[in-house]
Amino acid sequence: VPINDWVVIHTKQAPYITYVIAMRIPARASARGMYWDTADPFHYVRFESDPTSENYELLLVGGEDHKTGQAHDSQQRFDRLETWTREHFPAAESVEYRWAGQIMESADGLAFIGRNPADADNVYVATGDSGMGMTHGTIAGMLLCDLILGRENPWKDLYDPTRKPLGALGRLLGENLNVASQYTAWLTPGEVASVDEIRRGQGAIVRNGMTKLAVYRDEHGGLVQLSAVCPHLKCIVQWNGAERTWDCPCHGSQFDCRGRVLNGPANSDLPEANPALKS
Ligand code: FES
Repeated sequence: VPINDWVVIHTKQAPYITYVIAMRIPARASARGMYWDTADPFHYVRFESDPTSENYELLLVGGEDHKTGQAHDSQQRFDRLETWTREHFPAAESVEYRWAGQIMESADGLAFIGRNPADADNVYVATGDSGMGMTHGTIAGMLLCDLILGRENPWKDLYDPTRKPLGALGRLLGENLNVASQYTAWLTPGEVASVDEIRRGQGAIVRNGMTKLAVYRDEHGGLVQLSAVCPHLKCIVQWNGAERTWDCPCHGSQFDCRGRVLNGPANSDLPEANPALKS
């Protein structure tokens, strides 16, 4: 996600969280391949070697995507992924790993690769991979090389960051209205009335007068109190219980439970709460 750009590219792509589980399955119990379905959000399936046994493989199943910072039911999403996997791959055994990650979706599903809109001539971006980062990353290496060297490339217009997604303008508009609606979080109450309600290993948004705090209780019971205001464009961050991160619902910045920035476009940490709340 470009960190040098405050607005333009962020109106063209939207952040989504996707969930993945890895289950043990006997080797050759299922035809190895890469699969996905047509559900919305869709499921995707891959296989990986099991590092602990050549008699087993790992079945990676992902899906249950939602807009970043706009759902708080990660456990149920992992559970639904497991149920779906057992229905479709009855030989699957235990869940070995599970995790969540973020993808940037463009309205038309293609990455933005080329000159950064409204920027100096020598600034290029590659973003909006829409879940196809391996493919788009390779294309970006080839395409940006040609653009910098002034060579023709037949893909230039296809991935042009200034393009208008004509078939997907409705989706683009919907995503931007969704971002605008996130600013109402400035007016809503906190998720808990007191920091005493926050369990160990969990975080919650707490109102503090005119502003909001992102409060995390660590495994020893200590409180980490941060400003909940994202340093990028001032949206209110949300707790991500699956990854123990603070996620911004507007453009996808992510911060660890102690406020350290992990993912742009924000390029600074969540500041400490000032003043902090008393427990
Ligand atoms: Fe843009 Fe947080 S990422 S306001």
